[in-house]
Amino acid sequence: MKILNVVGARPNFMKIAPLMAEYSQHEDIHAILIHTGQHYDEIMSKLFFNELGIPEPDINLEVGSGSHAVQTAEIMKAFEPVVLEHKPDAVLVVGDVNSTIACGLVAVKLGVKLVHVEAGLRSGDRTMPEEINRVLTDSISDLLFCTEQSGVNNLLREGISPKRIHMVGHVMIDTLLRNKEKAKKSNILNLLNLDGDDFAVLTLHRPSNVDDPVIFGRILDALTIIQNDMPVIFPIHPRTRKNLVSCSLGKRLEEMPGFRLTDPLGYLDFLKLMSNAKVVLTDSGGIQEETTVLKVPCITLRENTERPITAEIGTNQIVGTDPQKILAAYRNATSGNWREPQIPPLWDGKAAKRIVDIIVKSI
Ligand code: UD1
Repeated sequence: MKILNVVGARPNFMKIAPLMAEYSQHEDIHAILIHTGQHYDEIMSKLFFNELGIPEPDINLEVGSGSHAVQTAEIMKAFEPVVLEHKPDAVLVVGDVNSTIACGLVAVKLGVKLVHVEAGLRSGDRTMPEEINRVLTDSISDLLFCTEQSGVNNLLREGISPKRIHMVGHVMIDTLLRNKEKAKKSNILNLLNLDGDDFAVLTLHRPSNVDDPVIFGRILDALTIIQNDMPVIFPIHPRTRKNLVSCSLGKRLEEMPGFRLTDPLGYLDFLKLMSNAKVVLTDSGGIQEETTVLKVPCITLRENTERPITAEIGTNQIVGTDPQKILAAYRNATSGNWREPQIPPLWDGKAAKRIVDIIVKSI
């Protein structure tokens, strides 16, 4: 069986790693890895391949950045000849980035079966580019693998046949569990002069937060107070860095001595940093899930989440961007006033095995 596997952006790499490892246990599967090139900087891409032992991509489409239409269209144009040449039995896509929908659409139009890993998640917010990518990819997929029950429920509500839907757990958590021990050896805490666990970690890259200086400014209002209390480590995404430089907000950071910008970190360093943090503030999707498994309080700087299980039973609290709400959640988290989390069902490190077993039986 020949499977073309697609990755493009940073959060895809930890999801594909355990699947590539699992395929290698199956002699009858020929797995080909395609990198669209959506993310291309060494620290946004290659570093993760090295750390996570992902094989070199067989093909890199080298599409790079662009507007949504340009990026999606360029990926489609570059991916179509690859599918025509390889004639795979299936195309597998992960997550919700532009590479996911672009390659999914190419596959189904050529009559190739489409497999979506991390299906069914819905924030209900159609202004989020990822929400459109999720809804569209799920509606054309033949096999849909869900990380949490809400995903299954959403797909059933949207009329997708239950025969296509499988609740399997989370490949990103497979990667976390596999690398937890290794990450302990990272010396990132020393490099950042951090002692003990009295520090916060911040990540911000959602266009709704960082492309709008008013909202970005409100988040900084809360962080101005937090960084007086403990260091705030901020590995900064390229989109966010660009925006800080282009507006006057960058200047405010100079007056915030506890606010510590770093380049984006590799997987193991970031895992070590998160594991030791007192609290994580983020607008990422995956970090809401990783902090739940690590049992670290997570304050989500968004109005909604497509991963509700993390707020229902995990460490996540959806707070939005109102500085008062951010500070109230921060005070609760740092005073230990946070519910004891549970690990969501099937987040046990075996999702990739379940997925590959089902693919073998179904395709
Ligand atoms: C993309 C995904 C988002 C995901 C995020 C993780 C979509 C619609 N968005 O957002 O879901 O959470 O990745 O990081 O697919 N850039 C670099 N170097 C790179 C890549 C990007 O400097 O290697 C800069 C470019 O200026 C680019 C900007 O970052 O224009 C944004 O990159 P893009 O891939 O368009 O979206 P992200 O914000 O990274």
